[in-house]
Amino acid sequence: MLKCAVVGMGGIGNTHARCYSEDPLAELVAVCDLVKEKADAAAEKFGVRAFYDEEEMLKAMPEIDIVSVTTSGYDNGSMHYEPAMLALSYGKNVLVEKPICADINDARELVRYAAKQKVYLGCDLNHYFTQPAFDADELIKNGKVGELVYCIHKVGFNGAESKYKGPGAPRWQTPYSHLKAFCAHPFSVMRHFCGDISAVQAFLFKPGVRATACDPMLSIDSIHVRFANGGVGYLMSQRGDAMFGLGGWWSYEHAGTKGTFCIENCVEKLHYWNIDEVENPSMASPTPKTTDYGVKEFGATFPVRIHAYLEDITNKVPLEYLRASGRDALATLEYTFAAMKSYENGGALVVPELLPAFHGDITRI
Ligand SMILES: NC(=O)c1ccc[n+]([C@@H]2O[C@H](COP(=O)([O-])OP(=O)(O)OC[C@H]3O[C@@H](n4cnc5c(N)ncnc54)[C@H](O)[C@@H]3O)[C@@H](O)[C@H]2O)c1
Repeated sequence: MLKCAVVGMGGIGNTHARCYSEDPLAELVAVCDLVKEKADAAAEKFGVRAFYDEEEMLKAMPEIDIVSVTTSGYDNGSMHYEPAMLALSYGKNVLVEKPICADINDARELVRYAAKQKVYLGCDLNHYFTQPAFDADELIKNGKVGELVYCIHKVGFNGAESKYKGPGAPRWQTPYSHLKAFCAHPFSVMRHFCGDISAVQAFLFKPGVRATACDPMLSIDSIHVRFANGGVGYLMSQRGDAMFGLGGWWSYEHAGTKGTFCIENCVEKLHYWNIDEVENPSMASPTPKTTDYGVKEFGATFPVRIHAYLEDITNKVPLEYLRASGRDALATLEYTFAAMKSYENGGALVVPELLPAFHGDITRI
């Protein structure tokens, strides 16, 4: 069993701790927070040791195999780098929350250092650790979708002008906070199904109600991409400025030359249209084959994603085969920074920076 510790005992840290404590491959052994009350409360709840300083924990418990970094910071990620680097320096495997970092250079350094340390750096990109996504993977693998034509991903938070409550906590008070903190997820989903993104064009804006309130967040992110393998994609993400229509708060439509699938509400439903089963496809509006998984709670993604991380380490998969790796998370941040650059240049086309190569000595790149 892998011995696990969690650093940062907010809501999500407690979720990681619960997942480890309930997973047959893991044993939760410690929790850590700079705020004593938070560490103590979690330690009592889970029956493990509390620490208020990560390095003290790492020194006191050398048996720890995995450290979850569930701190936050501005853009919900500026406090990931230091605790993650520290755990890596002690040779620990690290599961960092998303976004991998708020700063792109920090993220590159983190990925480079994990490769040098030869440990498993994973990221909690949990949105494609769902049964609908696993079944969609099978459709693709079994040739039921064909060559990618397009994907359209709409994801974010339902809301309206009348529901707006003013600028959020300090972590949300930067222009790119929604793009950085949240769009790691949709970028990870699009990349999972379609491969690397080779070009990005972005238009970001906010509604009048936010502008009037001097809210700096660019809460509406409209992003058009081209994939390296061919095919195009569109991402619409907004943070409570409007209601999402068909597909709910999370819909992903993926159309190929042989068939189309659509995931609705992330965990809830998968629809599949097989073009060969429709008599007159150019005119018809065929009924899809729909699977309703009976799951409504997004929280169901956490134990599944964390179990996958534990499984990969238990099975000692080659480092480059780790699912939702630090490198995958770096890719989402490269796309984010490409989108920022595009926006700052009036929607110009931007080519994201290359990722570190898979093979050879990746510590030298
Ligand atoms: N994967 C998902 O679906 C998902 C969903 C929501 C949030 N998140 C991510 O989870 C992370 C945590 O979010 P949250 O809302 O629980 O944050 P939070 O701010 O409520 O909690 C973070 C905790 O970390 C502690 N902390 C900060 N630096 C520390 C350090 N160096 N050592 C020890 N403790 C430290 C803080 O005291 C705080 O208690 C964020 O990165 C966020 O983006 C992920």
